[in-house]
Amino acid sequence: MNKHLVIGASGMVGEHLFTALRELGREAIATYNQTFFPSASHLNIIDKDKITELLKAVGPDIVHLPAALTNVDYCENHPQESYAINVAGVQNVVQAANGAGARLVYFSTDYIFDGKNGPYSEEAPANPISEYGRQKLEAEHYIALFAKDYLIIRTTVVYGWERQGKNFIYRLIKSLKEGMSVKVPVDQIGSPTYANNLAQIAISLAETSLRGVLNIAGSSLVNRYEFAKKAAQIFSLDENLILPVKTASLSQSAKRPMEAGLLTAKVSAVSTIPIVDYKDGLAMMAKEQSLI
Ligand SMILES: NC(=O)c1ccc[n+]([C@@H]2O[C@H](COP(=O)([O-])OP(=O)(O)OC[C@H]3O[C@@H](n4cnc5c(N)ncnc54)[C@H](OP(=O)(O)O)[C@@H]3O)[C@@H](O)[C@H]2O)c1
Repeated sequence: MNKHLVIGASGMVGEHLFTALRELGREAIATYNQTFFPSASHLNIIDKDKITELLKAVGPDIVHLPAALTNVDYCENHPQESYAINVAGVQNVVQAANGAGARLVYFSTDYIFDGKNGPYSEEAPANPISEYGRQKLEAEHYIALFAKDYLIIRTTVVYGWERQGKNFIYRLIKSLKEGMSVKVPVDQIGSPTYANNLAQIAISLAETSLRGVLNIAGSSLVNRYEFAKKAAQIFSLDENLILPVKTASLSQSAKRPMEAGLLTAKVSAVSTIPIVDYKDGLAMMAKEQSLI
């Protein structure tokens, strides 16, 4: 049976991967960086020697790498600090995984596209419009060139329960529960992805010999405002507190791809686990124990 290492299990995608691996009965080891995660080892991917040491000690067959600096506006304003993690850190992991003979599963994003004509297939030409998007694309290129065995999974607008409470839907539910209004852009279109569904499909693909790039994303397109309203309905919260705005009015540091989202025909053809759309994903989330 495969031994899995999840680098960044303290983040949303990483925790869902780790939980799903444990539920499947797989041997799984986790790491965290700044956010303590029970039974996990501390690892900062900037430290190349530490990664090499950990991989030697653990001997994983598969290394999942969701770890990244994911705050898009922070990356825009701190390009060197974020590059050290999102590009140089990834390079360190690739080299260590090669040395340990492990397969690498890297998590990337539709922010590598400009958002002029999404949703995007795996073959669509990339054209990032933010520092974060450029860094994720550079990491993808490095992996494709140098990793001995890899899968790049692109995903988008991931939502679900998470200990750090950062994702859009988690923050929306929290604000609406507290009776606070929330401004939500009407002009950002994407294919929201339920974290549990992403984790289960990613693990099933990680354990195949598939190589290259694959999209895993929700099966329908929706704008952020409609997505938020559907969440309010499903969680029985006041949708009148959701205020439609244009992205430009939010004065964010980094540009967002407006017509984004990912096409999933390829993954649907190879995965036995069906992709859920945002309505079903939100309903599944509502049935899970609330972490707020
Ligand atoms: N969330 C989305 O909507 C979305 C959409 C598209 C693609 N993705 C991609 O999916 C991946 C996971 O996203 P996420 O939402 O789960 O991110 P997240 O919740 O922000 O988690 C990021 C993880 O990376 C770890 N990390 C950060 N800096 C590190 C470092 N220097 N060394 C080691 N670990 C470090 C964090 O550890 P600590 O918290 O312990 O510091 C955390 O475990 C990312 O690569 C992202 O680009 C996410």
